[in-house]
Amino acid sequence: MPGGSVRKSLGLAAAIAVAMVVTEAAWAQTPQGDAARDFVVEKCSQCHTDSMFRDKRQDARAWEATAYRMVGRGAVWTSDDIKTIAAFLGQSFGPDAPRATH
Ligand code: HEC
Repeated sequence: MPGGSVRKSLGLAAAIAVAMVVTEAAWAQTPQGDAARDFVVEKCSQCHTDSMFRDKRQDARAWEATAYRMVGRGAVWTSDDIKTIAAFLGQSFGPDAPRATH
C-alpha cells in the first residue's frame, strides 16, 4: 500500500527518539555527571543503548570482564579505555549502586 513504508519509518524514528530520551534520563541518575560518564556513553552506545547493561550491578573487575567481552564483539578500545570504563561502571553501576528507576 503506498505510504505504508513512510508511516513505518516515522514510527521507527519516534521509537528511537523515545529510546534516546529514556537513555538520557537513566544516565542522568548516575552519581557522576562528568567526563568519564560521557566517555562511557559514547563508547557503549556505538553498538547498543544502556538498556543492555543499566540494570546490571557488579564491581569494577566484573565490568572490566564485560568490556573485554565487548571487544570480542568488535569494540576497538585500548586497555586505558577499558580501565576508564571499568572504573566508572564499577562506581556508578557497582554492587551497592541504587537501581535505576525507570
Ligand atoms: C562493538 C559493539 C559493542 C560495543 C561498543 C559495546 N557492546 Fe555490549 N554488546 C554488544 C553485543 C553484540 C551484545 C550482544 C547483544 C545481544 O545479546 O542481543 C552486547 C551485550 C552486552 C551486554 C549483555 C551481555 C553480556 O555479555 O554481558 C552487556 C552487559 C553489555 N553489552 C555491556 C556493554 C558496555 C558496558 C559497553 C560500553 C563499555 C558495551 N557493551 C559496548 C556489542 C557491543
